[in-house]
Amino acid sequence: MTHADHSALAIAGGDPVIAPGLHQTWPDIRATDRAAILAVLDSRDVWSDSGPQVRALQEEYAEYCGVRYCHTVNSGTAALHCAIVASGVGPGDEVIVPAYTMGASAHAVLHAGATPVFCDIDPRTYTLDPALAERLVSHRTKAIMPVHIGGLMADMDAFTAMAARHDLALIEDFAQAHGATYDGHKAGTFGFASGSSVNGAKNLSGGEGGLFVTDNEEALIAARRLAVFGEDTPPLGPGHTRAFWGHGTGWNYRMPELTAAFVRARLPHLDDHNRTAQANAKILDAGLSQIPGLQPPAIPEGRESVYCWYRVRFDPAYFGWTGQPAELRDRLIYALSAEGIVAGTWQRRPVPAQPAFRLHTPAPWRPGRPAPSLKPWDRQIFPEASRLLDESLNLCNVRTPLHVQDPSLMHQYVDAVAKVVHHIGHVMTADYEPVAETPPVPDAAL
Ligand SMILES: Cc1ncc(COP(=O)(O)O)c(C=O)c1O
Repeated sequence: MTHADHSALAIAGGDPVIAPGLHQTWPDIRATDRAAILAVLDSRDVWSDSGPQVRALQEEYAEYCGVRYCHTVNSGTAALHCAIVASGVGPGDEVIVPAYTMGASAHAVLHAGATPVFCDIDPRTYTLDPALAERLVSHRTKAIMPVHIGGLMADMDAFTAMAARHDLALIEDFAQAHGATYDGHKAGTFGFASGSSVNGAKNLSGGEGGLFVTDNEEALIAARRLAVFGEDTPPLGPGHTRAFWGHGTGWNYRMPELTAAFVRARLPHLDDHNRTAQANAKILDAGLSQIPGLQPPAIPEGRESVYCWYRVRFDPAYFGWTGQPAELRDRLIYALSAEGIVAGTWQRRPVPAQPAFRLHTPAPWRPGRPAPSLKPWDRQIFPEASRLLDESLNLCNVRTPLHVQDPSLMHQYVDAVAKVVHHIGHVMTADYEPVAETPPVPDAAL
């Protein structure tokens, strides 16, 4: 049971609940990370198509994940692009993606010349809604891409069945879910081909990079070719010379040896980090579920989230708020931040609101130039994703994630949230500074 702190809010001149300096930051660079990187430098084998570190990481990650093959690339977006192309998706095809994701999921579809068809989310799990996705299947649909957002896997029973029913390729975006499980199976193992990121924000981090995974050998070959100018790249070594023979259009998506060594050094700690995140989430769940008007994340039976972040929903009506829910969200973030909590929004709009996805003709070769006109955006097309982003906030963020925090800090988080909610009347009326708006000049159409 939470005991609300009745002392003055920090925004009203009171003492913050959480003292500065208690958050652990990410990534938690260890001596083993330094040693692994120095060993690569000492070997002078820093550049390679498929050097020893890259090859070892491919084997180790495939084993960790529970798939036959892993191919390492230089970003999560590249890994997803590989997965989409390896699934046979091309120009004219459609791929169903959630409206609440990171833009990269949909950019990867565009890179393949296909069209992302956005779909709203399940209001309970915030992942792609299977019933709504089913309605979007057309004769052009070739693939469906559930995204395991915030560390929680999407409804893979429903999506596996749906892919089989309509003969669609299932592609998982598990950038935010290394090690998350669904009925005991890890993220990445359900898709025909799947992609993940190891950028600095992820629970498995190598700074920048991506991992493509599949059980299908032809898909592996297609991904490898796409990642190196359409070429086949068997391991370099004595007696092997590169043929420089492109079988199709390819990119340069190679993962450097330094990155592979860095990820390899961190992989043995991934499960520990995930367990810490889960234990911390339990503390937050227990405390926040006692505070009326708040809703901690819902984790359906059989799924284990790895809490890439922790999203708390609030009910504006419960608090008697009659203004825009997003304003109350910003007021809460302002008050919580003053108490020493790291609170934020991540994205503030569903992905299809971005101009990049409202162009009449995608024009990747002219980024930054004003488009002559944009397709209209209406938040009512994706009401659940829009509502979620207005009526929720994240506790902790990718620089101070749950998976490196001390449990005692999480108890203080609960106390700080309880204090702010206890004084909600003040929070709703006091002066506050809105969270920086994106885009900086509010677009009336948004
Ligand atoms: C859900 C999701 N998909 C894809 C990506 C793209 O990964 P990257 O930034 O490594 O290209 C990210 C991360 O940024 C992500 O969070």
